[in-house]
Amino acid sequence: MKFFSVRKLFSFFSNDMAIDLGTANTVVYVRNKGIVLNEPSVVAVRAKTNKVLAAGKKAKEMLGKTPEDIIASRPLRDGVIADFELTESMLRHFIRQVHDNRKTLVHPRMIIGVPSGITQVEKRAVKDSAMQAGAREVHTIMEPMAAAIGAGLPVADPSGNLIVDIGGGTTEVAVISLKSIVYSQSIRVGGDAMDRAIVQYIKRKYKLLIGERTAEKVKMTIGCAMLEGDYSKESVDVKGRDLVSGVPKTISFTAAEANEALLEPIASIIDGVRVALENTPPELSADLVDQGIYMAGGGALLRGLDSLISKETGLPVHVAEDPLFCVVKGAGMALEHFDMYEEALM
Ligand SMILES: Nc1ncnc2c1ncn2[C@@H]1O[C@H](COP(=O)(O)OP(=O)(O)OP(=O)(O)O)[C@@H](O)[C@H]1O
Ligand SMILES: [Mg+2]
Repeated sequence: MKFFSVRKLFSFFSNDMAIDLGTANTVVYVRNKGIVLNEPSVVAVRAKTNKVLAAGKKAKEMLGKTPEDIIASRPLRDGVIADFELTESMLRHFIRQVHDNRKTLVHPRMIIGVPSGITQVEKRAVKDSAMQAGAREVHTIMEPMAAAIGAGLPVADPSGNLIVDIGGGTTEVAVISLKSIVYSQSIRVGGDAMDRAIVQYIKRKYKLLIGERTAEKVKMTIGCAMLEGDYSKESVDVKGRDLVSGVPKTISFTAAEANEALLEPIASIIDGVRVALENTPPELSADLVDQGIYMAGGGALLRGLDSLISKETGLPVHVAEDPLFCVVKGAGMALEHFDMYEEALM
């Protein structure tokens, strides 16, 4: 008769999870199941009691539209936890959702992706949040490492792998070889900075005030890093509040304008890539000539960004498959093959 080890027995009953606790989106992967949750990192609470009213998509719809007694907010900013309590409430809400609101007796093991620029104090805060939310054992993995694994790069080989993960709050650029990060840089510029740049541009040029959610939609529909072909003439209607008259107004906004608005944040991202390349040891640089750069994160979906980075660096640039899920898929692989990737954890 064969006995299960206690450890195996534990993992059989608990939903071990890999979590990408992102500034923009939280994605949860459950062992042997795959991705089970993908929600915006937004939580809405009752102001007086801090009781969670909604989290995820429902809470995101409330952003900027709540009455005084309800607070809808994004508890993570610039890739780190801005509000510890709200992050914990949100995480607990999502974990409960994954458990189908059932109480489980066995607490899960968790692997959480964290930005490479995280401080010890911030890392402690992430771990504490997860423990408070019901985890039994919490490991962290650097986001670019997870993104590289999730993008299918051969991180265990003695060869250079360059990954650029453009999230909502941060862009992480890292060079990985032999399951270790040889060089990494975390820039606090990502999709949110692009949204803010669009808000500012429209405010300056049209004296029109728009919300960040509207700016994000504009970015996703006509945003671009490079103007190619007839694309520059495409336009969308943008609604907001006229700063002079104070009444609602609609303007027509073109891709060429969006491109101009996005110049600055995009330049910061390209600078980050350039600095990483300058700091890459020559043998690994040599590998990059053929292998090229891999892009992950939602920002990788910005039209023309791959072509622009390729043009600026002279290297081939590939957008990973499902860029929004690279981090969670990589953390999920580390969960499924814990022994193989243990060194890649922090
Ligand atoms: N098609 C698109 N074009 C441009 N940007 C996009 C597109 N789709 C998503 N994004 C942007 O990607 C960002 C979210 O990406 P992602 O989910 O990878 O971030 P995150 O992991 O939550 O953030 P971080 O890694 O900084 O903590 C948002 O800013 C979103 O607007
Ligand atoms: Mg991310």
